[in-house]
Amino acid sequence: MKSEIVLALDVDNLTQARYFINKLYPVIKIFKVGSQLFTSCGPKIIEIINKKGAGVFLDLKFFDIPNTVSGAVRLAVRHKVKMLTLHILGDEEMIKAAVFAASDEAKKIHIKQPLLIGVTVLTSKDAKSSDVLTLARMGIESGLDGVVCSAREAKMLRDNIKGKFTIVTPGIRPKGSFKNDQKRTATVGEAISAGSNFLVVGRPILEADDPNAAAKEILGEIYARRD
Ligand code: C5P
Repeated sequence: MKSEIVLALDVDNLTQARYFINKLYPVIKIFKVGSQLFTSCGPKIIEIINKKGAGVFLDLKFFDIPNTVSGAVRLAVRHKVKMLTLHILGDEEMIKAAVFAASDEAKKIHIKQPLLIGVTVLTSKDAKSSDVLTLARMGIESGLDGVVCSAREAKMLRDNIKGKFTIVTPGIRPKGSFKNDQKRTATVGEAISAGSNFLVVGRPILEADDPNAAAKEILGEIYARRD
C-alpha cells in the first residue's frame, strides 16, 4: 500500500503559502487548502499549486443541501483539484448528489475526477469508534472514494468495511512534538501501519525551525515503511 504526505497549508495569505510551496515542493507533492487559506485567496491558490505541478487537496468540508454541495463540487472539478472533502453528516442524499456531480462534470470536461473524501468526526474531538464506523460505512456505500479519520480508527475501518477505499489521516504528530488542539493523534508509523493512504501534517512542518528537514524526516519514515 502506498502512503503519501499532504501538507496542510493553514496560513493566512498568498505570500506565506507561496513560501511553503516553493520551499517544500517536490518533497511534498500534495498541498491541502482549507477554509483559512481559501477565505484569504480563493481559487488563485489552486491555480498556483497546479501550475507548480503539485496536487491540490481542497479541504472545505462541504456540508449543505444537496443542490448547493453539487454546485460547489462541480466548480472544484473545474478547478482541477486532486481531492476534496465533504461532511458525511450531510447525509446520503447530499453525498450521492456530490458523487454524481463530480463524475458528470469530469466527463463533460474530459478530466480525471477528484477523489471525494468524507469527513467522519474531526480529530480535535473525542469520538466513539462505533460512530466513526457508522459514518464511514454510510459514506463509502453512498459512493465516496474514501474517508478522513484519526489514525487510531483507520485499522478498525479497514477491518470492518469491505472493498478498496482511501483513508486520509490528520492529527499526525512525529514523536516528541506538541499535540496542539488535536485529541486523537498518531505518529507516522502508527498511521501507516493502520492503513492510511494520505498523512495530513500541518503545524509539525509549518512551525518547525526547518520545515524542509521536518518534511524530509516524515517522508523518510514513510519510505522506510512502504511495502
Ligand atoms: O496542524 P495539524 O497537523 O493539526 O493540521 C491538521 C489539518 O487536518 C488541519 O488542516 C485540519 O483542518 C485538518 N483536519 C483535521 N481533522 C479532520 C479533518 C481535517 O485535523 N477530521
